Amino acid sequence: MIRVDVPGKLFVAGEYAVLEPGGAAVLVAVDRFLTVRATPHDSRRTVTSEHTGGRIVDFTGAPRPVVAAVAVVERLAMDAGRRRIGFELDIRSALDEADGRKYGLGSSGAVTVGVVRALGALYGFDLKAGEVVKLALLSVFSDDPHCSGGDVAASALTGWVAYRSPDRARVAEWWSDPRTSLGDLLSRPWPLLAVENLAAPRALELVIGWTGRPAKSRSLVAAVRAGISEAGFRRFREESDACVARLVAALDEGDDQGTAHAVAEVGLLVRALGELAGVVIETPELADLRVRAEALGGVAKSSGAGGGDCGIALLPAPEDVETLRRSWRAAGVVPLDLRVHTSDDRRKGDLR
Ligand code: PMV
Ligand code: MG
Repeated sequence: MIRVDVPGKLFVAGEYAVLEPGGAAVLVAVDRFLTVRATPHDSRRTVTSEHTGGRIVDFTGAPRPVVAAVAVVERLAMDAGRRRIGFELDIRSALDEADGRKYGLGSSGAVTVGVVRALGALYGFDLKAGEVVKLALLSVFSDDPHCSGGDVAASALTGWVAYRSPDRARVAEWWSDPRTSLGDLLSRPWPLLAVENLAAPRALELVIGWTGRPAKSRSLVAAVRAGISEAGFRRFREESDACVARLVAALDEGDDQGTAHAVAEVGLLVRALGELAGVVIETPELADLRVRAEALGGVAKSSGAGGGDCGIALLPAPEDVETLRRSWRAAGVVPLDLRVHTSDDRRKGDLR
């Protein structure tokens, strides 16, 4: 039996801008996990998860990200001249609560990475992190050609991750060309794609709060796109990319002040984007979360698409973390007991 534990993710910076080819983002993996267990089977190919009501179903009846990830790994195997194998996949997620509460920690990205790694291992492939990212990206893009794939990069690399999204149209062309072997696609550079680990801030504390309100990224993205002109979005994207570049440089240099400053700036840009597009990205709870962090000398912002889910704060003084959590609770924001998760067996997988 193969078991893989995949961490959830949160956006630190670059949401929305990262949807454009070459758009940049910074994310973290957090220590809440989705677990995939893969066992070989003589004939059938099945999946069990909470989405199947705990029943064993043929994998084609599993949620779309699972079906897509199985298809990608099987194509890798077929292209390498392997025979198709049967499997039982057992998927358990702690990324959302059992009672259905959704935090927005990236369960579809995590399940994609989990199935790629577990089924890949069952086939005997020794996939490096960069290859897992590419396979998982092919899988998520085949299901939703408009998502950024940032969640996949964070869940696959773990820790603090810089991500630049590839030219998906070009990748889709390669992918749909029957002459392209998947092995080729993995070894060739993808236009604009960059994924690398970053150093964590030196002394800033990352604190995570949940608004209690689930948000649907796809609808928020559609509403933002519909509410803003091409030129407006392009300007936002340029400013966001510049901020993310300053954030990456500050993390590289161990400059906590620069890090906090860049996060505050990019938060401001996202709020302005929401206002311009007439979409509530910073909900009243997220505004509370931010203002209460700022009152303690920190910075804070919505994480990801906003409209609910989680916000993040960076605090300069560790002794203020409890004060912030108390202050959030008083405003109805639920502090989540999450830390950045960095895998021990992280193998070199940067793609530049
Ligand atoms: O809210 P989340 O964590 O699903 O993040 C969405 C981030 C977007 O940039 C808005 C969409 C994407 O696919 O990156
Ligand atoms: Mg979200």
